[in-house]
Amino acid sequence: MLVIHTIVELRERLRGVTGIALVPTMGNLHQGHLDLVRIARQHGQFVVVSIFVNPLQFGINEDYSKYPRTLEQDCKMLEQCGVDMVFAPSERDLYPQPQQVTVELPPIANELCGAFRPGHFRGAATVVLKLLNIAQPCVAVFGKKDYQQLYLMRQMAAQLNLPVEIVGGETVRASDGLALSSRNQYLNAAERTEAIFLYQNLVEIRLAIMDGATNFFKLERQAIEVLTARGWQIDYVTIRAQSNLAEPTASECNLVILVAARLGRTRLIDNLEVVREQ
Ligand code: PAJ
Repeated sequence: MLVIHTIVELRERLRGVTGIALVPTMGNLHQGHLDLVRIARQHGQFVVVSIFVNPLQFGINEDYSKYPRTLEQDCKMLEQCGVDMVFAPSERDLYPQPQQVTVELPPIANELCGAFRPGHFRGAATVVLKLLNIAQPCVAVFGKKDYQQLYLMRQMAAQLNLPVEIVGGETVRASDGLALSSRNQYLNAAERTEAIFLYQNLVEIRLAIMDGATNFFKLERQAIEVLTARGWQIDYVTIRAQSNLAEPTASECNLVILVAARLGRTRLIDNLEVVREQ
């Protein structure tokens, strides 16, 4: 497995390579990331994993400086998965000058997580566009764990005619249901125990919808009340249409329940798709 740190070297090594599948990450890898690698291998002949903690997508009060950086351990895991190349550029290489050219996203980028993390998706989309231009993959894989991010990457690729297929991977969970995330390690023992209720609430809302509930506002309010009473600080609990993340029409069958909430100082997000019968 090649570990490459500069754009120049990456371009040299990738000259003539076809069927590249890219998995963009910020490192501190877990099974969720490795599952995306597995999917990448199904779609391409040469798997590149990028590892870059992207300052552009962190707000001023967010965890950029303390975001876990574990390159050596990440590379060991990726080597075992048969990854062909790791691309771990420095900040100076990726941003040699202030990044003033950025991707303008559809308005939904300022809702949901975007409402609580201004500029976050612009930063994420901009670095992903750079990585796509640098590695020129035919496929790029993103997790459904970050549902809004995946949606926006698809929109970026479609609306900017990027010659890349965006593939989504299912959310990988711990055995108790908690979605794997690099941020889970910020949770103390009590918070880790409590964290499973985030997913359990999604499951309960899904059950209610499958049972015929149509008053989504009520379901959202109930979940917010339950979680708040348990000590969570809720950013949002919302039921949206899968196709555009807008509030669903009465006839919409393909739904997704999205949640973001904080336990202590840790912000967790999760989501669950629901397909209801009409
Ligand atoms: P990061 O948080 O490292 O996530 C990298 C990829 O792994 C994302 O596509 C994310 O959705 C996916 N992922 C994370 N946890 C997952 C889980 N439990 N199951 C399945 N997939 C999971 O997302 C980012 O980095 C950045 O925003 C990035 C796209 C790299 C741009 O900087």
